[in-house]
Amino acid sequence: MDSSDFLSFLSTRSSVRDFSDEPLTEEQIASMIRCAGTAPSAGNRESWDVVIVTDEGLREDLSDAAFQQHHVMDAPVILVVCANYIRSMSQYGDRGILYALEDATIAATYMMLGAHAGGLHSCWTGAFDDKGVSEILGLPTHIRPLVLLAVGKGTLPPVRTGRMPIIEHVHENTW
Ligand SMILES: Cc1cc2nc3c(=O)[nH]c(=O)nc-3n(C[C@H](O)[C@H](O)[C@H](O)COP(=O)(O)O)c2cc1C
Repeated sequence: MDSSDFLSFLSTRSSVRDFSDEPLTEEQIASMIRCAGTAPSAGNRESWDVVIVTDEGLREDLSDAAFQQHHVMDAPVILVVCANYIRSMSQYGDRGILYALEDATIAATYMMLGAHAGGLHSCWTGAFDDKGVSEILGLPTHIRPLVLLAVGKGTLPPVRTGRMPIIEHVHENTW
């Protein structure tokens, strides 16, 4: 794959929010998580964890905690990607909070792209009640849920979203 193929791969991913109820195979799920396992992390501490949620009742509860977003209930799998503060803070102190958030964000991104590479669809879901999600999944206090990554097979063609001109993000040498 050259850089132009890679850009095409990235450009053909879109968030999908309408899912069929076709379950994913264990291998499809494992493959996304293996992708996350290749991600860089601060000090190689890998300060992220994931809760694989397939149970229908739990998906309904998560959807409620995510302000009734229906795709969280409809997707056959929700990968709840979490920052593990203890793993990072035990090496980096307070700075470890930031690193754990970064590690988990990168891991979730790799899972999302792994889903795309596997012909699956996903929706990164960040709007949810943290406490609600933690209670539903029994997360320890040092684990912060960051992303509910809804994954499955979409039922509608993905809709491409626009982007601001890339130059608006770019600053040379100084701001
Ligand atoms: C940090 C973050 C939080 C997001 N939260 C939600 C969400 O709660 N619900 C949702 O439907 N989409 C959510 N999204 C998906 C964005 O709406 C979507 O990525 C954006 O509109 C660009 O569209 P695209 O993913 O199709 O390129 C979130 C994305 C990110 C990165």
